[in-house]
Amino acid sequence: MTANSRKILVTSALPYANGPIHLGHMVEYIQTDIWARFQRQRGNDCIYVCADDAHGTPIMLKANQMGLTPEELVSKVSIEHQRDFAGFMVNFDNYHSTHSEENRHYASLIYERLRDAGHIARRTITQAYDPEKEMFLPDRFIKGDCPKCGAKDQYGDSCEACGATYSPTDLKNAYSAISGAKPIEKESEHFFFKLADFEDFLKGWVADHVQQQMIHKLQEWFDAGLQQWDISRDAPYWGFQIPGEEGKYFYVWLDAPIGYMASFRHWCEQNNVNFDDYWAPDSTTELYHFIGKDIAYFHTLFWPAMLKGAGFRTPTGVFCHGFLTVNGQKMSKSRGTFIMAETYLKHLRPEYLRYYFAAKLGSGIDDIDLSLEDFRLRVNADLVNKVVNIASRCAGFISKKFDGQLDSQLAEPELYQQAIALSETVAEAYESREYGRAMREIMHLADKANQYIDTAEPWVLAKQEGKEAEVQACCTMGINLFRVIISYLAPVLPAVAEQAADFLNIEGFAWDAIKEPLLNHRINKFKPLMQRVDPEMIEKVIEDSKQDLLEAQAVVSKAAVKTELEKEPIAETINFDDFAKLDLRVVRIAKAEAVEGADKLLRLTLDLGSETRNVFAGIKSAYAPEQLEGKLTVMVANLAPRKMKFGVSEGMVLAAGPGGKEIWILEPNEGAQPGMRIR
Ligand code: MSP
Ligand code: ZN
Repeated sequence: MTANSRKILVTSALPYANGPIHLGHMVEYIQTDIWARFQRQRGNDCIYVCADDAHGTPIMLKANQMGLTPEELVSKVSIEHQRDFAGFMVNFDNYHSTHSEENRHYASLIYERLRDAGHIARRTITQAYDPEKEMFLPDRFIKGDCPKCGAKDQYGDSCEACGATYSPTDLKNAYSAISGAKPIEKESEHFFFKLADFEDFLKGWVADHVQQQMIHKLQEWFDAGLQQWDISRDAPYWGFQIPGEEGKYFYVWLDAPIGYMASFRHWCEQNNVNFDDYWAPDSTTELYHFIGKDIAYFHTLFWPAMLKGAGFRTPTGVFCHGFLTVNGQKMSKSRGTFIMAETYLKHLRPEYLRYYFAAKLGSGIDDIDLSLEDFRLRVNADLVNKVVNIASRCAGFISKKFDGQLDSQLAEPELYQQAIALSETVAEAYESREYGRAMREIMHLADKANQYIDTAEPWVLAKQEGKEAEVQACCTMGINLFRVIISYLAPVLPAVAEQAADFLNIEGFAWDAIKEPLLNHRINKFKPLMQRVDPEMIEKVIEDSKQDLLEAQAVVSKAAVKTELEKEPIAETINFDDFAKLDLRVVRIAKAEAVEGADKLLRLTLDLGSETRNVFAGIKSAYAPEQLEGKLTVMVANLAPRKMKFGVSEGMVLAAGPGGKEIWILEPNEGAQPGMRIR
């Protein structure tokens, strides 16, 4: 690093440790990685850290559901996340976890400093409580009927049917999404961060540390008034215990951003760097956070205020980006556009997406659309037809006719000057996160390079007598332009750049190296750098996306059954005669229909071969009627008929599962026929 190089620490938001990385996430990690690579290419000292966001109720419950401890779930997910990020060439200097000793240390330290300075309030509040699970319920875990339109099974904060927003206490027939029990109200003491103490500081800070579009949003927040922030949760909770308090834990969002410090601290230990150089209030280093606009409140208000209050430096900039849509719509599981990173990587090269996102990203918070057809056409037109083509049109002549040797001078020095004159324009665009503008400038240059080769026509010259020198001259020119273009694209296309460096027989692409053209220099044999994107590759991604998600869900379901079995004790022993009394029969579901006025029941017409039966089954939450018709299942055929509100039920079908969507009717297959008895 040169003496005057900048010292920069950058972060991306810490992904939750309870789900897979999808292409929406990748907008952010690719955006940040391009920026960090650009800074390093410029000769700056840029450290990029991240971590898994490991704490909180959803992760605790998910682990529970899968029959794992939270620690086990978190380490399993961390491996998957890091595999996916590496697959997309996201080059972290350190990837850590918020469930780490460093994070416990800084979370406690920051809390204690805030508390001692009088920025923490204590107050008793009333909240929904699950009396069966014996835990307080976050809004997301309370469901019920929408108070406005009556739609069933809506979340505690808003209705998916009519869009109404409300508080969980407004729900009708509220129930706990965890146990199904009716929530009760319960009091407990909570700890609050007094955000309003920092109002003046924040108003000043915001003005020159966040994007213009965000400043408007922040103004709305200031106008609405800065509320105290509830930073504690009661046991049982998966997180860090609050120092000096029994049964009180830090809310996940308190220790999440502190995870940036923890990850960096871990890196410092391994690299002998002084942590305080970066985090002391008078630090001259730069600190930037890349985040999605959904988490701006945490990063532009709570986080700088916490740092300020605890005596640390505050961020140099918080860079928000918009959300990803696919084919113009929200990512959708049923359309196959909820694409996991892993699924994409099975079929497509990461750099296609890195380039496509770069071409679409600006410095603002507008959403960006991945239109799959546009993606294919753009990548093929720009990268394959324009950029890679420049090298493949020139390389063969140089290696075959001149033993890989480039000429001693440039055929068109002025054109080369034009190419390198773009250097600062492109750099300025990267620096300000206007990657789309950078890509347009670079593609414009690639057009010029191709026009040059079109006019020079080395393939024609090569066939003519005595034009050897001209062939070498124009191919040397073409290859030098290619080098400039790849140097500009290197932050976006790291693997292509590496292959190109091998081909060009150079060390790499320090930003200013292009000032010296490659002359009297031997290059290596050219190997194809990039294949076209085929429509079939994209179709496979869509198909697999539907499948992969089903599989991911099936795994969870099986795990859920396992825990359910562990919970439900085996019933009282019966003797063989009792068992022999059961007449279990294979039946065909001839007809299945909803029952008017019944939430859970389906009316089944069962074909026993010799007769038909009418049976009511409580499986509406798991099956739509049309999914059942024609299926074989097993019934208890000699159960006494029972009169129900909707009619007489003449038997019972057998099913298994914890309930809700996860009930499976038993389906015999091996040659079963209606009427067969099961023994
Ligand atoms: N764990 C929190 C962040 C804590 S940071 C101290 C979180 N995790 S997340 O996994 O939900 O999201 C991680 C990042 O990915 C966030 O910045 C989020 O905005 C971004 N994205 C998640 N889905 C996205 C899209 N569909 N599109 C673009 N970015 C998206 O939030
Ligand atoms: Zn509603």
